[in-house]
This record gives sequence, C-alpha cells and structure tokens, in this order.
Amino acid sequence: MIDLVIPNKIHDESRQGEALLLDPVAGKNNGRKLYIESYGCAMNFSDSEIVASILSEQGFETTRDYNDADVIFINTCSIRENAETRVRNRLKEFKVAKGKKPGMVVGVLGCMAERLKAKFLEEEKLVDVVVGPDAYRDLPNLIDQVDSGQKAVNVLLSREETYADISPVRLNSNGINAFVSIMRGCDNMCSFCVVPFTRGRERSRDAISIVNECTDLFNSGYREVTLLGQNVDSYKWTSEDGTQYVNFANLLELVALINPDLRVRFSTSHPKDITDEVLYTIAKYDNICNYIHLPVQSGNSRVLELMNRTYDREWYINRIDAIRRIIPECAISTDVITGFCTETDEEHKETVSMMDYVQYDFAYMFMYSERPGTLAAKRYADDIPEATKAARLTEIVALQQKYSLVRLQAQIGKVQKVLIEGFSKKSKNDYCGRTDQNAMMVFPVDERYKPGQYVNVMAERSTTATLMGTIVPPDPLKGE
Ligand code: SAH
Ligand code: SF4
Ligand code: F3S
Repeated sequence: MIDLVIPNKIHDESRQGEALLLDPVAGKNNGRKLYIESYGCAMNFSDSEIVASILSEQGFETTRDYNDADVIFINTCSIRENAETRVRNRLKEFKVAKGKKPGMVVGVLGCMAERLKAKFLEEEKLVDVVVGPDAYRDLPNLIDQVDSGQKAVNVLLSREETYADISPVRLNSNGINAFVSIMRGCDNMCSFCVVPFTRGRERSRDAISIVNECTDLFNSGYREVTLLGQNVDSYKWTSEDGTQYVNFANLLELVALINPDLRVRFSTSHPKDITDEVLYTIAKYDNICNYIHLPVQSGNSRVLELMNRTYDREWYINRIDAIRRIIPECAISTDVITGFCTETDEEHKETVSMMDYVQYDFAYMFMYSERPGTLAAKRYADDIPEATKAARLTEIVALQQKYSLVRLQAQIGKVQKVLIEGFSKKSKNDYCGRTDQNAMMVFPVDERYKPGQYVNVMAERSTTATLMGTIVPPDPLKGE
C-alpha cells in the first residue's frame, strides 16, 4: 500500500513517529523517564502534549532515546491499514528494548488502542497498558497498576471529556505555531471512516478555555494557532448559564480578536457544514488565514452517497464557488480517496474533473483501505483491485502536482506576508515560513529579522511544493 502525501504543517508526514521532549515540573522529578512518539493526525500530536502534561505533573522527565526509557508510549492511528502496520513494526523494535531492560512499561495510546481494546494485550504480548483517547487522566493509576504486576486497560469513551483544563506542554515546538484542540470526536458516519469508533461522540470544548489558551500562547511568543477538530464547522458551545452561545464563526472571531499579530488557522472543514458566515468571518479579519482544507473524497455523487458524506457534487461545487466569491484569494486543499467500493472508471473521471474545476493548492490522496467495523466494511465489498486503486491514485497525484505548480507560480512576482518559522531544512543561510495561503516560502536570512516575526517576501521562483523569494522592505504607503 502506498499513501502519497504532499506535506504541509497540518498533516506533516515528516512528524510521523516524532518523539516528544519536555522538562520535568520543578521539584517533582520521580526519577523515571518517559519516551512518547506519535502517529496520525494533528489531533493525536496535540493529545500527546496533553499526555506529556499529565505525566510531567507526576514527575516524569522525557528522553529522546527509547532504550533509555522506563515508560514507552506510542500514540497510534487506525485511519488506514498501513498506519497500523507501521505501529506494529515499531512495537517489534520496542520489544527488543524491553528485553534488555526488565520493568520497562510499554503502552499503546490513541485510536488503535481504542479500536482493538484488550485484544491488543493478546495480540502483542509485550504491551502492558492500552489507553483510549478519552482516558488519559487515568494514566497515573494505570501506570501504578502495571508497576504492581498487572496489565491495565482503559478505553472508556466519554461524552464530556475535552481536557479543557489541561495546558498542553509544547516543548517540541518552535515556540511560534501551536495546535489547539477545540473539539473531540465525530458524529458523522462517513462509511469508510474509523474515527467515530475510535474517538467517540462529538463534543465542543469550552470557548473561554480556548480563548484563554490562545491568549497565553500569544503572550508567550506564539504567533500562529491552528484550531483543530474533525469537523470544526459543527463547533457549538453554550455557557452553563445559557447566556452565551458560540458557533465556529464566533469562535474564529474571538480568537482573531486576541491580537492582529496572531495568525489563526483551522482544520478540518466539512463541505456539508461550512457556512457563509464562516467565510465572511475569514474575509473580515486579516489574521484569519486565507486557507481552507475542504475534503471532497470523490467528485461523483453516487460514490459520495455510498460514502455517506451527505453532500453531492453540486453542493460541493456550490461551496467552492462561495469560497471563491467571498474570499477570492483563498487557497483550498482537499483529501481524495481512490477506488472506494464499486467506483467505476467513469466515476473516477468525475473526481479528476472536480480537481480540474477547483485547481486545489494541495491534496492528500489515498487508496481506499477497508477498516474493520466501519459501515462500508459491513455493507459493501472492497471490490476494486489494488492495481486499479493505485493507477487512479497515480493519475490524480500527477494532476495535483500540475495544479500545485500552477497555484504557486501564480504567486510569483507578488509580495507575501510570511511568518518566519526558523531556518530552512536545507540550509542555515535560508529562513522558511508560510504565506497567509499556507504555501512554504524559503528566502535568504536577514539578521534584522528573527523567527516569530513577520516579513514581506517577494516570491521569485517555485517548485511544486515551495516558493523561493527575498525579503523586501515594508510598503510605506500601507504604514507598516
Ligand atoms: N475529519 C476529516 C478527515 C479525517 S481522516 C474529514 O472529514 O475530512 C483524513 C482523511 O483520511 C480523510 O479525509 C480521508 O480522505 C482519508 N481516509 C479516511 N478513512 C480512510 C480509509 N478507510 N481509506 C483511505 N483513506 C481514508
Ligand atoms: Fe471520518 Fe467523516 Fe468524521 Fe471526517 S467527518 S472524521 S471522514 S466520519
Ligand atoms: Fe487521527 Fe488517525 Fe485517529 S487520523 S483521529 S489518529 S485514526
């Protein structure tokens, strides 16, 4: 199985398996070391920061070397079969480490833990503890249980848990961009998708705690927050006394108002729920970035119905037209699945024509992978041969590369406001940072500017994934 991904920050392939580092809370060091690594979506990375926060309160310190750890946690993803295979392979490596260090605790967290529950303990003998995404507050007890010689499992899903009061520890971060979870779970039942089973019912986090967290981040130097949820457009929160109601458009506005120098991004929008009110809010505030990730999955209405996406081709096109009308400069990215059950060549061509219509800036493209327990697994045969899935994928990946290049080349000759994130991966002589529209820009270092500052950059060249340019002076007419 291959997944072809054009990386950006939100679904960054290079972060898969990244180990999280944190300092122990002063005076609480318990002498034990934790190693935690994460797979899957940004939500999982954000959850690992919550786990780190809970365990640092217990006096754990982190290590980058799992051989040196007393507790190894792997925060897992179940979205496609290959995501799970990757985790199982990693567990084999941990088994060797555990063999050398008796007493080492190995724990599986996240979506795979939730999907397989106690079965994990039978399947993978080395695993001591299995913890689902809503049970992280119980980790200290579960670790105690393992220390006393038992195996431990907590995979209870909750209708309320949002970890609203836990400030995530953000030590892997560059101190400039942060993910902020605004909701958990998902109430949609897309037939291909395992998330409603691994993450439970949708619930929105207290708006006040979100605004407070973003304000704290800004005050400690962060300049960009990405609000996270599986379906951010269905965010809704009412205060306990019933006097305040906040929908997603209101929340975007509240976060944007914290400071004009705080950039606001969000993911993921759902085509059935994204409202014009949200689009007008994005258009109104300069610091809400002009970038929307709007997964289409398929361009054909019959396939969309089988997928239970609850919109059709016309509806999706109407939403794209609304974005282009209300936010003309908006970049749009998408997710596409090839070879869903019974998809014909003609239907696949409608996905291709959708890509021609929208000309996406980025796309994340996957072959359909049947997931046990999902509606599609129960109702439909996974009947498209792997070779056909792969051929369709290869075709749309090539097409997307063409459009990514077209969209980036349209920026050449224009001046973009870029938030400097740090040095470029390739050279200490270059900075990198993203434009408002989420394109990565690389440009020569100018000592007068530091990471975390905004600069104007003239785009001069591009590859299919990156713009290259040079810093230009602020425009005096704009009073910058
Ligand atoms: N909540 C987001 C998506 C979360 S999963 C949304 O609704 O858009 C991220 C992407 O993984 C999905 O958009 C879909 O394209 C892909 N995906 C999910 N389940 C899949 C499966 N069984 N096989 C292949 N791709 C899948
Ligand atoms: Fe999965 Fe659909 Fe929910 Fe996205 S909206 S997480 S694809 S069920
Ligand atoms: Fe995310 Fe994977 Fe779970 S995409 S919600 S970690 S199944």
